[in-house]
Amino acid sequence: MIIDVITILPDMFEGPLSASVIGLARERNLVKIRLHDLRNHTDDRHRTTDDYPYGGGPGMVMKPEPIFRAVRTVQDLEPTRATVIFMTPSGSRFTQKIAGRLSEAERMIVICGRYEGFDERVLTLADIELSIGDYVLTGGELPAMVVIDAVVRLLPEVLGHADSTLEESFSEGLLEYPQYTRPQVFEEMSVPDVLLSGDHARIARYRREQAIAKTALNRPEMLATAELTEAERALAARIIEGGQ
Ligand code: ADE
Repeated sequence: MIIDVITILPDMFEGPLSASVIGLARERNLVKIRLHDLRNHTDDRHRTTDDYPYGGGPGMVMKPEPIFRAVRTVQDLEPTRATVIFMTPSGSRFTQKIAGRLSEAERMIVICGRYEGFDERVLTLADIELSIGDYVLTGGELPAMVVIDAVVRLLPEVLGHADSTLEESFSEGLLEYPQYTRPQVFEEMSVPDVLLSGDHARIARYRREQAIAKTALNRPEMLATAELTEAERALAARIIEGGQ
């Protein structure tokens, strides 16, 4: 996969995209990430990327010309067309499902906003507008890094073992079950006996119950779309009642 990022703050990306799993994926050429400074696509002496909003109001708006120029220039870097993603708090909510879909793309271009938002006309370039959550950040750079991280870790060969993305939170509509490692007893807190039993069926049953319990307590709204048996629904209802 090739990921092009268009931003006025390319330096923000260096640390997060060079460390750990993503850094290693880049070193192994499993993903190529290129950063493009939007200011290189301006044509005035001050390299201006924003301007006052028509109709008045607070803040500044990102001008259309540099973004159009940058997206077109970057699209033309490769023969295959990239999926164009705008990071904005008014976008669709980014989810694991969207991450999965994006991980199948050959290329993506991610455009980061600053100031009060984009001139609406640039959104004609967008395949998708994404928000990472219902809060407003100072710009789309951190959200872009979140999306890139979530997508790159799903690319083939990036994670050591294929199973690790299948069983995790959100993949099957429930939060992940609790995990334990050594020591078996830590500050008088013991690892549940069932996990030491070697009885794989019992362990699987226990983990499923724990996943349902965690979801019922922390994210009860997720249960509406999770696939649960009657007995599991009753368990979730009991936990929600007990937890309040
Ligand atoms: N830019 C500012 N806040 C954002 C958010 N929550 N998601 C995506 N882009 C943003």
